[in-house]
Amino acid sequence: MGYEAMHIDTLIQKRFSPRSFKDQNISRQMLEQLFEAARRAPSSFNEQPWRFIYATRDDEEAYVKLLDCLNEKNRSWAQQAPVIMLSVAKTTFSKSDVQNRHAWHDTGMAMAFLLLKATELDLYVRQIAGFSPEKARELLHIPDDYEPLAMAALGYLGDEENPQKPRKPIETFAFQGQWPS
Ligand SMILES: Cc1cc2nc3c(=O)[nH]c(=O)nc-3n(C[C@H](O)[C@H](O)[C@H](O)COP(=O)(O)O)c2cc1C
Repeated sequence: MGYEAMHIDTLIQKRFSPRSFKDQNISRQMLEQLFEAARRAPSSFNEQPWRFIYATRDDEEAYVKLLDCLNEKNRSWAQQAPVIMLSVAKTTFSKSDVQNRHAWHDTGMAMAFLLLKATELDLYVRQIAGFSPEKARELLHIPDDYEPLAMAALGYLGDEENPQKPRKPIETFAFQGQWPS
């Protein structure tokens, strides 16, 4: 396989969102492995509402278009990354045109699968809310029933260590039986 298969706990511990990336491209085969992991995510009615628009740095025109969607602050560090992507959710069901309330949830799950696979391949991802969905819709020709959700920069880790961002204690978000009083 060319990489070490890792225990899920190791992957969860290892993953973090860097702002620095090595000047090293990602192979097409690796990108395919990432999207294969995303493809396996569960979804409401198996709608698989996620879409990813991505560009590699060697495809300059497409890469610059994606970078253009970012706000300045995020663009300043993200432009080091060899891959920029945008997750998009299909907000209606394909069979009925009814709104899919879980499209956002399911697209996030596909992204989480992609992130864990990336971690196993020694790749790192930082997702980005700081972008213009309107600009993305226009520049990337995204249809009305699809919503641009989050951008992401992806690549090999630059000169940065996992800062271990603080996490809330479990009892503040996992409630047994009912909402706490
Ligand atoms: C949907 C989403 C949007 C984010 N937007 C930004 C952003 O605009 N700029 C940025 O620098 N980091 C962004 N982040 C990264 C978060 O700050 C980071 O995931 C969080 O602080 C936890 O750190 P960790 O991922 O290293 O564990 C975003 C993360 C997510 C999941």
